[in-house]
Amino acid sequence: MKLIDRMRYIASPRILDLQPYKVDSSRYLVKLDAMENPHELPLSLREKWLALLNKTAVNRYPDPVCSELRGRLRQAMSLDRSVNMLFGNGSDEIINLLSLVASGGEGGSVLFPEPTFSVYRLSAEAHGLKVIGVPSSNEDFSCDMGTMLDVIEKKQPSLIFLASPNNPTGNSVDQESIIRLCAVADGLVILDEAYCKFAAVSHLKLLSEIDNLLIMQTFSKIGFAGIRLGVLFGANDWIELLDRVRMPYNVNALTQATAAFALDHWEHFQSIIDEIIAERETMMQFMVGLESIRVWPSDGNFILFRPHLMTSEHVHEELQNRDILIKNMSGAHPALQNCLRVTIGTEEENMLFRDRLIEIMGREGISRD
Ligand SMILES: Cc1ncc(COP(=O)(O)O)c(C=O)c1O
Repeated sequence: MKLIDRMRYIASPRILDLQPYKVDSSRYLVKLDAMENPHELPLSLREKWLALLNKTAVNRYPDPVCSELRGRLRQAMSLDRSVNMLFGNGSDEIINLLSLVASGGEGGSVLFPEPTFSVYRLSAEAHGLKVIGVPSSNEDFSCDMGTMLDVIEKKQPSLIFLASPNNPTGNSVDQESIIRLCAVADGLVILDEAYCKFAAVSHLKLLSEIDNLLIMQTFSKIGFAGIRLGVLFGANDWIELLDRVRMPYNVNALTQATAAFALDHWEHFQSIIDEIIAERETMMQFMVGLESIRVWPSDGNFILFRPHLMTSEHVHEELQNRDILIKNMSGAHPALQNCLRVTIGTEEENMLFRDRLIEIMGREGISRD
């Protein structure tokens, strides 16, 4: 049997047609492509953390339900008693569990405003769910609520993903809109708050009032992308339904210990978040002052921009030649044509990025005043 025939025998055409999620794994001096926290643990904290890991048993399976972490998080976030949690190997795993639960259900589709985080589509397609992308018709990428409500009423999808702040556009959805969406939807609304710490806004309080709302957060953007930990908050019945398809021991012991450590030293991580927000404002001021680009406001730890006078490929490549990696978003969605996304790094990294950008784009037409 030929290999391709064997593959066809095993996998559905839908899986064979999927494109894997691509990540640039080359090493760069300045890495501003993936919305990671640029700060490593300071030495004093690193030593405490290593001492904790040293005490963590790795010969045993981890706690299958993350009881200690669950308790600490409940306390740290003052969660209502009606709200439970599901932990995943990153939010990515949780998105996949949601799609798995929805596959084969009566709704059969997943809806999200576009452009947005690409894993919603990837996971829906992998599970054979119909994808309904609602384009943000507005120039500023704000969610087109009128159209969203219309399409939801007509199609009644199983799942609605709403990222706030949204990746890669940086805009947030207001609370009233979230409430309206949940009110018209028969299915589940998943509010993805991956970047909420940089907006200093969370809608967790809504969970005790709305029974078809789930809220997802991640440790990835606040300094722990490497441990892979996502959290889904919601009513117990939904969490129990998802728990039926969660593999046992999906969150390893080192991750559980590290997340609890982060909560115990939250002041440090909050100060880093504040620093990133301040750096974002400096970066935004600089970019708004450039005549040769269009820039969009951002509530996240990244900024989306579009050069007017050169291609995004050229800017991306020239930055790479100078050992700086950002993300070229052109091609990810028609509305992102010629767009680039830069993650906010350390003060030094951001300065280097700004200097190199000016070098590449030339001084002419740089200043707006
Ligand atoms: C909106 C959004 N949600 C979720 C994720 C994935 O988070 P995690 O690292 O927890 O899988 C990302 C990653 O970039 C994201 O942009």
